[in-house]
Amino acid sequence: MSAWTPSSGLRNVPKALVLPLIGDSARLFHDGPRLARERFGKLGPVWQTWVLGQKTIVVGRADMIKWCLNREHDLLEANWPTSTKVLLGRHGVSVVEGARHLQLRKILRPAFTVAAVNDLVPRMAAIAHRCCDKWAAEGRGKGQTLAKDYTFSIALMMILGFDKTLLTTETIQSCIDAFRLWNEGLFSFPINLPGTAFHKALEGKKVLMDYLGQNLRLLREKKRMGEGASEKGEQVSCAEGLLDVQDDEGHGLSEEELKDVFLTLLFAGHDTSASATMRLFSELPRHPHVWKKLIAEQQQVAAEHGPAIDGAAVKAMTYMDAVVKEILRLHPIVGATFRRALHDFDLFGYHVPKGRSILLNLGYAMESDKRWAGEAGEHAPRSFCPERWLDESGQKTGGWVPFGGGPRMCLGYLLATAELKVLLAVLARGYEWRPLDINEEFSFFPVGGVPVNGLPMEFDKLSELRTEK
Ligand code: HEM
Repeated sequence: MSAWTPSSGLRNVPKALVLPLIGDSARLFHDGPRLARERFGKLGPVWQTWVLGQKTIVVGRADMIKWCLNREHDLLEANWPTSTKVLLGRHGVSVVEGARHLQLRKILRPAFTVAAVNDLVPRMAAIAHRCCDKWAAEGRGKGQTLAKDYTFSIALMMILGFDKTLLTTETIQSCIDAFRLWNEGLFSFPINLPGTAFHKALEGKKVLMDYLGQNLRLLREKKRMGEGASEKGEQVSCAEGLLDVQDDEGHGLSEEELKDVFLTLLFAGHDTSASATMRLFSELPRHPHVWKKLIAEQQQVAAEHGPAIDGAAVKAMTYMDAVVKEILRLHPIVGATFRRALHDFDLFGYHVPKGRSILLNLGYAMESDKRWAGEAGEHAPRSFCPERWLDESGQKTGGWVPFGGGPRMCLGYLLATAELKVLLAVLARGYEWRPLDINEEFSFFPVGGVPVNGLPMEFDKLSELRTEK
């Protein structure tokens, strides 16, 4: 850390020519990647604009971003727009700061370890089979609905441990509708007047909180009756595990804290994975050779590990791993993350003043990854090329940051990648899909990728599994 004086030799951050207060808010959320390319090309790796009414420094170089992410709690703190903070709730892990954040991460971590995620894989595979069979029986559907069906089911059952009595079609649909409203207001101007996105989002939040509260009561009741998953020796959901945890001083989480934590997990844990799933649904049909290779790998994995998909089988899926890495590189789900400077500091020669909002542009960092910058053809940064991860350059350290980094790195990254791999494995073993418009565009808001028409597609189940020979 270094205090800035006009004589300290630090450069001021170049400013984009924009209207004060209004600045780049609209373009950033709706045309972020193009805006980033233009500005970083013109102004260099760091520049200043206005976002949602705040002066904001935008950072796009991977080494600078990683440095910032690792200075969390020391030089920087999370800085969500007011709308996001209100809608997430003040106890959510994304919002809490300092020692409380570290404590909460410690409490949540056991639910997201390699072992915990591996244990969940067979249940994930069962959910994937159930969803795929349903889609195949319908024959046609929207990719967006299918992707959410899968990731929402996983979030409700495995993360939030939703009780069976709550898992009716009606509840799920009402949760999905409320969640959509809530999500659309996350990055809005915090004006609570009827008709505004923020107002609708608060209404959506009420519905979600009500379901989370009901589930919490049912979970507690089951535990009291000795019928919780842990009492029955069954796999414990993340939510049920949280009922008993205590911090170092022996304090558990209050009802309000638990609900905020559950809401954050629902937010962080399903739209993100759904968005990546939609990108896969859209990208793979444009690259049939990749799909063929995925099928061949599944045949090999099934021959070696048997027909069931478990943690060991997922670990053996090397090409699958490259496909998932590539989709998250090319189509960043969380394009950027907000921070605030706790002190004046020196960012690689630029002066960052105390209190300034900072936007770390994860998407641009991946697009300009030095390993492939300047490459043409299939290895060009904007091409979909899973093979790049299997080459020598793919093994080197670079700017791949889809899950952020440092103390706030995505808690669910193992779960998210397992979800994507399991669904693709199930599809590659026995199903086929065809988007009706293979070039359908995606919007970038609110999370990483939403096909503008919902990605209509046809869906079939094969009469014989590709792994049965
Ligand atoms: C493809 C899917 C996903 C992507 C791309 C993704 C990406 C990210 C990123 C970039 C962050 C860091 C934000 C920051 O630095 O401010 C983050 C945080 C977080 N993610 Fe994920 N995520 C995904 C799925 C999940 C899943 C499945 C869960 C589990 C429920 C999850 C739980 C979280 C939580 C709790 C945080 C907050 C961590 C903190 O502030 O300490 N994410 N995620």
